[in-house]
Amino acid sequence: MEAASAHEGTRESARIGSTPLRPLRIRFDGRSVRLWLKLEAGNPYGSIKARTAHALLASLEANGELTPGRRVVESTSGNLGLALAGLCAARGYLCTLVVESNTPRSSIDQMAAYGAEVITVPEVSGGRTIDARLAVVAEILAQDATAVWTNQYTNPANPGVHESDTAPELARAAPEEGWDTVAVAVSTGGTLAGISRYFRRHMAATRIIAVDAVGSAALGGTAAERPFKLAGFGSGRRSEFIERHHWDHVVRLRDADAADACARIRNRTGISLGGSAGAAVLASVLRAIRDPAARELVCVCPDSAEKYTQLLPGRPAGAGRADESIAEALELLDLAQPDETLPRERAHA
Ligand SMILES: Cc1ncc(COP(=O)(O)O)c(C=O)c1O
Repeated sequence: MEAASAHEGTRESARIGSTPLRPLRIRFDGRSVRLWLKLEAGNPYGSIKARTAHALLASLEANGELTPGRRVVESTSGNLGLALAGLCAARGYLCTLVVESNTPRSSIDQMAAYGAEVITVPEVSGGRTIDARLAVVAEILAQDATAVWTNQYTNPANPGVHESDTAPELARAAPEEGWDTVAVAVSTGGTLAGISRYFRRHMAATRIIAVDAVGSAALGGTAAERPFKLAGFGSGRRSEFIERHHWDHVVRLRDADAADACARIRNRTGISLGGSAGAAVLASVLRAIRDPAARELVCVCPDSAEKYTQLLPGRPAGAGRADESIAEALELLDLAQPDETLPRERAHA
């Protein structure tokens, strides 16, 4: 990864990126489509947020705001916090992370094991927990002159690293005829904005699918209650990075349907996906059903399932039935088979 070699980093920084791409094949209606899963759990600290955390710290180091002895502060649903905790420990910064009650316990324990201070805010009704987290960050910044906010919500380094690193990795591995679609779930929107900016310039035929949670305000609209809320998927606030031209299709999914997709993929293929990854895969299948020309679909899979207690072997109890079109897509996931094709760059290696 370019950013890692530009900044004398830790061993962990150097291992960020170049994550695996695993193809699955689904045959239906006389067609054959391939879903390519970009497995970001392969990063240090188990998620795509290793890329973001590294880029955020590097940006503050580069502009002189972050110097030894200072305290990094961030609001996080879990993944970014864990990566920041690890990287701060390696670089000698203090670290305070503001999380919420549905942040996975194991992530909090690992943050603390890296020496981070973890503050948990209780759930606020109406999808406003993020405001409570940000209020705590503001308090810390007001009280501690050594505190520096990485600010994943507005720092251009967030989309920047996906434009400079994540997207080119996807593009290099594309089949000869390119990707038909790339599906990205949104929270801050950094991943989607960065990938879209790159694809619009270098692979303009690829259609971008933005995947958001029902009840999220990440792409606009009002935040609402989300039963079975999955950490890292959607947001109580509109993304500061995403502009309307960044996506071609938007798919809004209920958390329970994303969890159901994760369960089916795991049962069928053994691949473990976190909720936002399951959402990206399910959204891609919905797209494939609607668009008979779509054959090669790549899905950004931010993390795996292990730390999420909501991700059970089946559909979450009490979730009710999926809507008809979603149910059809979920059933197609039961037909998914691991495919032997190698990503292009590896096949040519
Ligand atoms: C599991 C998971 N999926 C998706 C995302 C979304 O990434 P972004 O903030 O770039 O939109 C995050 C971010 O926290 C995440 O942790």
